[in-house]
Formats: sequence, C-alpha cells, structure tokens
Amino acid sequence: MPALLISGVAQDKAFLENAVNYAQGVVISAEILRLFPDWTKRFIVKIAPIVRYRRAAIAFLKDMVQERLTKLEKGDDTGPDDLLQWLIVAAPPEEKTVVCLVERLMALEVASIHTTTMTFTAGLYRLAAEPDKYLPELRAEVQQCYDGGDITRDSLGKMIKLDSFLREAARLDNSGLRIIYPVRCVTVSMQRNAKKTFTFADGNVIPAGAKIGAPMLFQHRDPSVYKRPDEFDGFRFSRPKEQGQGAAPMGKDSLVSTEVAFQSFGHGRHAW
Ligand code: HEM
Repeated sequence: MPALLISGVAQDKAFLENAVNYAQGVVISAEILRLFPDWTKRFIVKIAPIVRYRRAAIAFLKDMVQERLTKLEKGDDTGPDDLLQWLIVAAPPEEKTVVCLVERLMALEVASIHTTTMTFTAGLYRLAAEPDKYLPELRAEVQQCYDGGDITRDSLGKMIKLDSFLREAARLDNSGLRIIYPVRCVTVSMQRNAKKTFTFADGNVIPAGAKIGAPMLFQHRDPSVYKRPDEFDGFRFSRPKEQGQGAAPMGKDSLVSTEVAFQSFGHGRHAW
C-alpha cells in the first residue's frame, strides 16, 4: 500500500510509523475535540496529538513535494507513477503548495490504513478458521495467476476466488463502524449529517441536523439477496463466475463493487 502512495519513502520505517500515528492521531484528536464547545475547538486543535504527526509528515515530504512542484512549474509533468504525483497534477493551482499536498496525501493515508487493515484482518481470521477448506484452492489460484512476475491489476483481476473470499469476509466481519446504543449494537454505513430538511416523495422527512446512516449489518445479511446469509461461504461470489454466470472479474460482485446489500466501501455518489 505505501508503495502505491509515494515512491521514495515507501520503505522508510520512520515515515511509515508516522503515517500510522497520524491515522490514529486523527481519530483520537477528533474524539478529544468533540468534548469541547465549538468556539474553543480552533484553540484546542493546536495542542491535539495530530499536530505533532502533521508537522513530522511535512518535514518528511517537503523537499520531495517541492522538487516535484518546481519541475511542474517548468512545464515538466513527468514524475514517478505514484499517488503523490497524481495529486500534484490534479490539484487546483491554489492548492499546489507543499502543505496542501502533504495534507491531501496524509488524508488518504487516514482513509486507507484502517480500512485495508480491517478488511484483510477479517480475511485472515476466516482463513485461520478453516485453512484446509480454503488455503489450497486460494494458493493454487494465486500461483496460477501470478505469472511469476509482478502483482498487477490484470493478475489481481484473475484471482476471482481470492476476491470472493475477501468480499465474503468483508460482508460478514467488517460491517462498518459499530455504534453501541443502550440496548444493542448496530453497524452503520454511509453516515451523513443532514444540512437541511429533506422530504422524500413518500412524505418521509429527514430534519435538518439529523444524523443518518444505512443499517449495513442487516443489509449484508439480507436473506432475499444472500442464500444462507449467516454462513461464511468463501467462494459464494466466484462460483457463478467459474460457471460462466457471473459478471467479469472486478465487475459486479467483486470486492470493490458496491450495492445496497454490500456497503463495505459505502454506496455513495461515487458508486453510481
Ligand atoms: C479495503 C479497503 C477500503 C475500504 C473497506 C474502504 C471503505 C470506505 C468507506 C466505507 C468509505 C465511506 C463511503 C461513504 O460513506 O459513502 C470510504 C471513503 C473513502 N475512501 Fe475508502 N476504503 C478502502 C480503501 C481506501 C483506500 C486504499 C483509499 C485511498 C488510497 C481510500 C480513500 C477513500 C476516500 C478518499 C474516501 C472518501 C470518498 C468520498 O468522500 O466520496 N479508501 N472508504
């Protein structure tokens, strides 16, 4: 994952450690800030844990970002094929600054560190629970698709069993943030704050200020969509594809395709 983000610091242990601390610092700082009245937050944020990691991230990356910005200013938009370069090229002119770009990059680190860890941890637990059932088939598929070379988008796209296994683990075990209410625990995806009152065609109203979300735990176990919804069936999604009935690799029913009944990646406007 870090290799995707920034060539040059991808293997730097201190940078990676700071990236993880930054991701945790965002959550901890947000929880601390939440305790205080709004008008104080702009002062308190200055001593929140995130400040230290933000400063360290800027120190790590500033020379590299500046060097690439200078090159771009001279009309040369070539650079390493990594996330930092994509962000630099895509940023609007007023955000082509070292601080803005480091912040964008670190925001993506925050978005990607916990999510990928949770998804793969869910998969590893399932594998550990039934190694004989899944390991040989998954290993054989990886060896067959790996082409003896790099892991590429194409080779990953061929690993339909592995993809199915991870989607099934995400369906059952990685079902969003758990919010504990006094009586029970619910998992909610697509959490949104209603900025203004919205009235649906059927008359249902979401009042301004309401917090809403989708009940992912139940959607992921909807018996009208999933046969034996509570059962872990690692090849649930690859079986139809093997029989020529399913969508193309990376199409519908792949780990990254969202739908009402599968919201590990949400199902927001970018999904449509
Ligand atoms: C298995 C891995 C991942 C999972 C399960 C995951 C899950 C999610 C979820 C649930 C959301 C909220 C969607 C919504 O509420 O509509 C989200 C948003 C987002 N994720 Fe991921 N994510 C993963 C990996 C990544 C990675 C690797 C990156 C970047 C390198 C990333 C960047 C983002 C961004 C930028 C958003 C905000 C999108 C928006 O505001 O429309 N995610 N992700």
